[in-house]
Amino acid sequence: MSAKNNFYITTPIYYVNDRPHIGHAYTTILADVLARFHRAMGDDVLFLTGLDEHGQKVQQAAQQRGLEPRAHCDELAVRFTDLWKKLGISNDDFIRTTQPRHVQVVQAILQKVYDNGDIYQNEYEGLYSVAEERFITEKEAESGQFRDVRRIKEKNWFFRMSRYQARLVEAIEQNPGLIRPEHRRNEMLGFLRQPLGDLCISRPKSRLSWGIEIPFDRDYVTYVWFDALINYISAPGYLADDEAFSRRWPATVHLIGKDILTTHCVYWTTMLFSLGLPLPATVFAHGWWLSGESKMSKSLGNVVDPLDLIEQHGVDALRYYLMSEMILGQDSSFTVDNFVKRYNSDLANDLGNLLNRVSGLLSRYFDSTVPEPGELTPAEQPIAQAGAVLGGRVAALLQEFKVDNALNEIMNLVRSVNKYMEQQAPWKLAKEDKAAAGRVLYTAAEALRLSLVLLSAVMPTKSAAALEVLGASDSGLDWGGLKPGTRLQAHPPLFPRIETEKK
Ligand code: ME8
Ligand code: MG
Repeated sequence: MSAKNNFYITTPIYYVNDRPHIGHAYTTILADVLARFHRAMGDDVLFLTGLDEHGQKVQQAAQQRGLEPRAHCDELAVRFTDLWKKLGISNDDFIRTTQPRHVQVVQAILQKVYDNGDIYQNEYEGLYSVAEERFITEKEAESGQFRDVRRIKEKNWFFRMSRYQARLVEAIEQNPGLIRPEHRRNEMLGFLRQPLGDLCISRPKSRLSWGIEIPFDRDYVTYVWFDALINYISAPGYLADDEAFSRRWPATVHLIGKDILTTHCVYWTTMLFSLGLPLPATVFAHGWWLSGESKMSKSLGNVVDPLDLIEQHGVDALRYYLMSEMILGQDSSFTVDNFVKRYNSDLANDLGNLLNRVSGLLSRYFDSTVPEPGELTPAEQPIAQAGAVLGGRVAALLQEFKVDNALNEIMNLVRSVNKYMEQQAPWKLAKEDKAAAGRVLYTAAEALRLSLVLLSAVMPTKSAAALEVLGASDSGLDWGGLKPGTRLQAHPPLFPRIETEKK
């Protein structure tokens, strides 16, 4: 057994009914940032993402394209994996619910839950939202938030979710970290004040054939959510390898959007109870990217293609924007205008400018070598101190899922170094007192280096390039990592300003 901490993080597995969009990119980048950060901290990370390939929505999408569902899924899967490659996603595994390793686990679990008496057959009549792939209540239908609603009456198999209601409420109450942020936890506790019904987990093949066959009744396939949620345990090898599995499960965090809170906090948790498995440590639900007033989604046709911004301004700029702009847990508006503003102020002005200045001045006055730090004066103290504690502060904020705050802390150091440079004017000092100029430039370059190390999880490519310029690739978080005498590398501007008005 290794002494490293297990950090098992998941994203939702996305429906393959259309191409990936900015919402999918967001959750996946967020998970990637946390995974990269935890790897850098020395944790034993498993970062899982993947695709939800069964169900009516996918079957319909395939039909519309005149393809067999499997062929449709194979084509769409490539669009997702290509985008993740482009976005620098460092997932350790990629699960598709059509893979045999997953299908086998779903069938074994259905059999197990059936054998322990938690699955029964009944006739059911209710409202069904095809868009959400679930039965909804009359009240939910009245809210007008569900598209594609129809009334359905049929014989089906049911999971005894109601049996676990009291146990679930107790688990949520006793464990404030289980559902985050706090207002989502309260939302779920509110929902659970009503009696919890049982969950319809089958679809007759006469209505839907694209799904995992129910092992004890071949006229039915499994409801897509009962199938999909199981990916979180099929991927790390439930059934396959007990030891490997028990090292991974329970997951550290299921990262999701607030649209799928109930399925994760109620369906999944009660399924785990029935299986006798522990609950994940945290389900974290973030808010939505909005376009104007409405949620950005493929079905609304208002989707900004993240690929367009990548091609123009680079992957890291998009990652930075998404991570810094959204306060985790709240909704955020996505506009290209905000993107350009954020890029120009934070990346071009603050960070890019500091790198250009430091490397430019070192080239002019120090033959592109890192100078001696010398004795720190009161002017350097606040910067050295802020730099020394920054790593700990960022780690603590990320523990709380406050990615935007963490980025702001890093950028505050960068901004204070820019101010310090203005005040100290090393370009003047260089002519009068070379050692003083060296001290200022060392301090600025070292604070910049630390900032870049901490920005690596969010901007892996640009941070690595900038650290290479400073001759400090693979350096750590202690103050003084920059070695005097190191030669700097020449570089083109890393974050050229985006000019919005044509001259
Ligand atoms: O729900 N803003 O898949 P899905 C932020 N297959 N995040 C968004 C978003 C937006 N506007 N739109 C989508 C499913 N997302 C199921 C999940 S899990 C066992 C099965 C992100 O393709 C967000 O993470 O509809 C949301 O929860 C997810 O995409 C839904 O993706
Ligand atoms: Mg959806």
